[in-house]
Amino acid sequence: MKVMLRENGPVLIESKGEAKLKQNGEEKEVAGKMVALCRCGQSKNMPFCDGSHAKANFKAPAAEIEL
Ligand code: FES
Repeated sequence: MKVMLRENGPVLIESKGEAKLKQNGEEKEVAGKMVALCRCGQSKNMPFCDGSHAKANFKAPAAEIEL
């Protein structure tokens, strides 16, 4: 699994193996998909990024974690 913090943007999570997103008692299969999670706090579709970070002028450095 790779976790990428985009410069001035969301956290991208790329899963290569089995992976499920659990939210409010619901589960979604996300294996093999790229999931973009908000880290600016401005999304109207939490926990997902909806692009609001650009309008909010969110600033944060990039980083990458491989698990
Ligand atoms: S990081 Fe994109 S809306 Fe928050």
